[in-house]
Amino acid sequence: MVRTYDADDRDADLPLTQDEKAAEQEADRIRDARRPARRETLGRVRGRSGPHPIHPVPNADAGARAWGPDTAAMIAEAVGAGAKCAGGQSEGAGTAMEPGDTDDGYALLALGERLVQARALQAAAELRLGDLLADGPLTPTDLAAEAGCDPDALHRLLALLASDGIVARAGGDRFELTRAGAPLRSDHPASVRAVLELDGAVAPLVIGAVGHSLETGEPSFPQALGTDIYAYMDEHPDHGEVFDRAMDDLTRLVAPGLLAAYDFSEVRRVVDVGGGNGMLLAEILRAYPQVEGVLLEVPRVAGAAQEHLREQGLSERCRVVAGDFFAEVPEGGDVYLLKGVLHNWPEREALQILRSCRRAMSGTRGARLLAVESLLPDGDDAPHPARTTDLAMLVLSGGRERTRAEYAELMEAAGLQLEAVREADSRFAVLEGALTAPRPTTPA
Ligand SMILES: C[S@@+](CC[C@H](N)C(=O)[O-])C[C@H]1O[C@@H](n2cnc3c(N)ncnc32)[C@H](O)[C@@H]1O
Repeated sequence: MVRTYDADDRDADLPLTQDEKAAEQEADRIRDARRPARRETLGRVRGRSGPHPIHPVPNADAGARAWGPDTAAMIAEAVGAGAKCAGGQSEGAGTAMEPGDTDDGYALLALGERLVQARALQAAAELRLGDLLADGPLTPTDLAAEAGCDPDALHRLLALLASDGIVARAGGDRFELTRAGAPLRSDHPASVRAVLELDGAVAPLVIGAVGHSLETGEPSFPQALGTDIYAYMDEHPDHGEVFDRAMDDLTRLVAPGLLAAYDFSEVRRVVDVGGGNGMLLAEILRAYPQVEGVLLEVPRVAGAAQEHLREQGLSERCRVVAGDFFAEVPEGGDVYLLKGVLHNWPEREALQILRSCRRAMSGTRGARLLAVESLLPDGDDAPHPARTTDLAMLVLSGGRERTRAEYAELMEAAGLQLEAVREADSRFAVLEGALTAPRPTTPA
């Protein structure tokens, strides 16, 4: 029986077997293997005289404001303090300019200014400009009246969004959403409005606190907000809802790709581990009427998931369990789904989750684990969206994106073997794991 989640008794309740202790040491080895190079670099940074080149982590009060209405103030603070760090000196002053130097400088500046563009887009999502423009073009003045904004300030925001192709002029001084901007609407099938809203809420934390993570290798969220991200959401359910809605958006995007990548027609029971509001499980149950579902979530989310599945008429086929995936995962599934869960956690915790799944899987012959994650490409310079989420995971929860080989290594340490990797879409892959075959015993 899965018991109610209690973060404090996580370790006390988990007597480790010899194998599990060895697996945990293996997770530490995997983590430590990455460390020496980082330490050397940090030593060089620390060796500098004067202030740390990266803006230090904001204090807890400032951090707390990041996830609330005062995002703009938080950014101003981070940017202001950053300017102080720079000391107003231009290090390149006095060196002769070569042809092309100015363009190189501007090009790099433009990359840095993406922060402003991103923040403008997040503000548009927070103000629900997409929904307000859904019925047709509006002038900045009319839109400002609807959104509760200053008309001139909103006009300038719209001009920036127009230069990025998110909105366009629609005759006179009215603005309309473009096709590129359409997913800003809450009712768009690929809506990302809630994700952008979440990004806007945590962006100041990422901007302001990345220095702490770079210096220590630890997440900045607990330092800035006094607790880890999931405990924070338990304490602030309204912020938790923003997070859950963002996960729904992301799940809606990847669901068709997962259903195309994996055939559930022989599957009897899917256990969605950390399954959020149940959106992905609902998609699977709708597509495959023979499948039953079990969803494991923390109590805060389990209630909402239950309600969501009931609204969809799926509660008869789906059980929601309030529990803790570090302690126990329900048995009896032939597929164990972990979507966007492993990347939240560093090695030790990711291994613990996999180990819980492996224990639950061991009772069902042929049970499969499906981890849906964004895979980092091999090598450091190939661009991929996982590069951004990798840094975000570091700052938020101490997690990380991983390469295919790193997932294979992690699974192996948990007694699972990675059998196949299928691309779901341009961001996500489905990693299929199975119990490692028992080693043949050597004859005496
Ligand atoms: C990044 S979200 C992914 C949610 C969902 N799988 C999706 O992709 O939409 C991670 C989920 O893990 C859940 N979670 C965190 N800690 C947990 C724990 N100890 N036991 C069970 N679920 C947990 C969170 O509540 C959250 O919904």
